[in-house]
Amino acid sequence: MAATEQSVDLDKLNQFVFRAVEEVGATLNAALVVMGDKLGLYRAMAGAGALTPVELARRSGASERYVREWLNAQAAGGYVEYDPAGGGYTLPPEQAIALTDEGSPAFLPGFFQIALGSVIDSPRITEVARSGEGVGWHEHNHDVFDGCERFFRPGYNAALVPAWLPALDGVVEKLEAGVKVADLGCGHGSSTILMAGAFPNSTFVGSDYHAGSIETARERAREAGLDNVRFETAAAGTDHGGGYGLVTMFDCLHDMGDPVGAARQVRRMLAPDGTWLIVEPMAGDRVEDNFNPVGRAFYGFSTFLCTPASLSQDVGLALGAQAGEARIRDVVTTAGFNRFRRADETPFNMVFEARA
Ligand SMILES: C[S@@+](CC[C@H](N)C(=O)[O-])C[C@H]1O[C@@H](n2cnc3c(N)ncnc32)[C@H](O)[C@@H]1O
Repeated sequence: MAATEQSVDLDKLNQFVFRAVEEVGATLNAALVVMGDKLGLYRAMAGAGALTPVELARRSGASERYVREWLNAQAAGGYVEYDPAGGGYTLPPEQAIALTDEGSPAFLPGFFQIALGSVIDSPRITEVARSGEGVGWHEHNHDVFDGCERFFRPGYNAALVPAWLPALDGVVEKLEAGVKVADLGCGHGSSTILMAGAFPNSTFVGSDYHAGSIETARERAREAGLDNVRFETAAAGTDHGGGYGLVTMFDCLHDMGDPVGAARQVRRMLAPDGTWLIVEPMAGDRVEDNFNPVGRAFYGFSTFLCTPASLSQDVGLALGAQAGEARIRDVVTTAGFNRFRRADETPFNMVFEARA
């Protein structure tokens, strides 16, 4: 008998295999949730009580046979409840909030959509992982862009205006009086539009190097009917002019190839008493601090999205989504900022204030 066989604990092997069965189910569930979201199945079930597959098919316009199979997969995973006596499936009220209420901080489909979008593009990442070359944010599919917006927006809605901005020294007073604000790496512009709506005396410019995201951001601004916000396609490190009272970056500093160069640009943009707000994914400084469910999800996104994004750009520092406070501080202070502190945090985000 080989030495390796002797040292194998068969109970542990079995446990690991059964855990993997659960994870394969969870992997498929990401696509099932996005399917339910796109077909309007959760929305048709919310508040409707028990529905048979025929009733749900009628309400949603989807085919009964697919709806039945989807419902069984959802019931097996605990996303919906099944009543064997009546043959009805119910979406419990808590799941209804998490799966249908776009305004709730508990809203989940965006999280699943960006995860599925990342998985869809994973063959390309597997390919470049051999050579070490990067894949730009702009090269991904739409589930990444839309999922990103829908994942982050509920958290920004809940925290940005009520908690994160007030946690910064004197910033709310300035925004109320009227200052110039730049939101770099703004994606679809959720954060820019939220701030512009809350502070009508200030003027906001959102920018991102991805032209497609900026087009969507402009559409969102038109829908919001705001006249104090505009969007432009520009990389963070390019010249944006000066005199800004506030510069913000939401979940994007670590995606940049040259975060130190971008930080130096922020330093040039800010008025002498200006503030840089940096929101980054929650992470501890040591790898082992992040061996938890949030860290696991973020290391996954980091492998498929953030690390390749940074590697696709000049310098390619590739901080990763789990850089942690110490590495972010290092980037910021290397660029010449003297004051840096963690102003706030949530289970998903760290919120930093940097000043000259
Ligand atoms: C994870 S997304 C976050 C988007 C947005 N801030 C949000 O919170 O929804 C990262 C964004 O950084 C942008 N980005 C990456 N590198 C950039 C760079 N060098 N300059 C400007 N934007 C950049 C990407 O195009 C993408 O929109």
